Amino acid sequence: MITIGIDLGTSAVKLLAMDGAGNTLKIVSKEYPLYLGKETSGTDASGGTKQGWTEQDPIDWWEKTAEGLREITAGLTGKVDAVSFSGQMHGLVALDENDNVIRRAILWNDQRTQKQCDYLNETVGRETLLANTANTALTGFTLPKILWMKENEPQLYNKICKVMLPKDYLAYKLTGIFATDYSDASGTMLLDVKNKDWSACMLGIAGIEIKNVPKLFASSEPIGRLTAEAAKQTGLPQDTLVVIGGGDQAVGAVGTGTVNDGMCSVSLGTSGVLFFAGDNFAVDRGKSAVHSFCHANGKYHLMGVTLAAAASTKWWVEDILQSGDHNSEQKNIADAALGANSVYFLPYLNGERTPHNDPDGRGAFVGMTLTTTRADLTQAVLEGVAFSLRDIKEIVQKLGLNAKTARIIGGGAKSTLWCKIIANVLQLRVEKINSQEGPALGAAILALVGAGAFKNVSEACESLIGVTEVFEPSAAAVERYNKRYPVYASLYGRLKSYE
Ligand code: XUL
Repeated sequence: MITIGIDLGTSAVKLLAMDGAGNTLKIVSKEYPLYLGKETSGTDASGGTKQGWTEQDPIDWWEKTAEGLREITAGLTGKVDAVSFSGQMHGLVALDENDNVIRRAILWNDQRTQKQCDYLNETVGRETLLANTANTALTGFTLPKILWMKENEPQLYNKICKVMLPKDYLAYKLTGIFATDYSDASGTMLLDVKNKDWSACMLGIAGIEIKNVPKLFASSEPIGRLTAEAAKQTGLPQDTLVVIGGGDQAVGAVGTGTVNDGMCSVSLGTSGVLFFAGDNFAVDRGKSAVHSFCHANGKYHLMGVTLAAAASTKWWVEDILQSGDHNSEQKNIADAALGANSVYFLPYLNGERTPHNDPDGRGAFVGMTLTTTRADLTQAVLEGVAFSLRDIKEIVQKLGLNAKTARIIGGGAKSTLWCKIIANVLQLRVEKINSQEGPALGAAILALVGAGAFKNVSEACESLIGVTEVFEPSAAAVERYNKRYPVYASLYGRLKSYE
């Protein structure tokens, strides 16, 4: 059996072909433009820039995916049985009655909707949002984008016939079936996450009807097969099964095997994510922006995001130290120094999502003396990101989810020192695994499950994902970090007044 995982990212679509034993056969990647700070063509005669706007053209996504599929299938010996998706979440794709894309998609990291979020959080009210969706409104989510269109582009809003998420557009182009899955739908603010159904109340607030949103499926469920036209455009056999897949965080967690109750994963990319899989629904009633979403294994998950993880180390080593060599900056930091640093770093260089939900938060070094070294500051940056992940763990633990082990993934996981710091600050056994392909691998695994190669997602992950390296927390370092964490946690509030 061969499956293809299609990871629709923000800079590129990555396709990964896998055999039934979990071996990666081929990877293909195709880039497309990202429109930053620009009006959708045709709507802005002035050509003015729009701070915080990020958009992509769904037609680019489709064309590059079709091109990637033609390329990846060309070299394979054997027939492709199924494809599935991991998609950048929250993006608004709107189609008119003739299935034309109405405007460029407004993406997950677009910041234009603060006014709509304030309306949702304050006027509609957090309690109503939590009761109906399990989440409070963030600028990235889909509903605020729909409300923004209603207010700012009423002629375009009035044409909306279908609202879907980025990966759902690809599934629609392949099959003609209007479908999504519970994990991705969780980030729209239109889904009743607990009961896994569209929320009539939230659809009403968006001013749309049930016929305007896709049919819901489990992430590993097949939705159908290819249309003749899609088979021609992609080079895939027409009987290829299309399995709907999910949002990139949930599918990425499948790709690390973070699927059973009590497991968690740490992703150290540009941003950092702490992701907890759970059998039971849980919701954070505070204002800390812990997301409560459906998982791609049919259960639930909680996750928090620290906005500048590897972005902080990149800023420090590349922009400030002008060295670019992360290894040599870290090589003199000994195990005995872990938790024994006197400097603290707040990684809020790009504001913060969890736990402060503060786009205006700022970074800081605190506690330097004349004896502070370059290595102390480098260590403080790594520790500051780890402490910000600990903030997420503290909230999630209070909601009843406890993990002993974390699977680690992302560019930052290449640093042994950072893995050790994470293990000690979070008091978790940290495991590196046999593939770093996260979301694309997770999507290929979901396709395998959908095609019947495994009974369920857990069984597939247990059989296909192996641990290659383990970092155990050390009692002495844990004790030192436990003393330092409350000081770190108090600094945001103490420094806030200086902004
Ligand atoms: C999840 C999130 C990102 C995007 C893009 O809440 O905002 O993971 O899906 O990667």
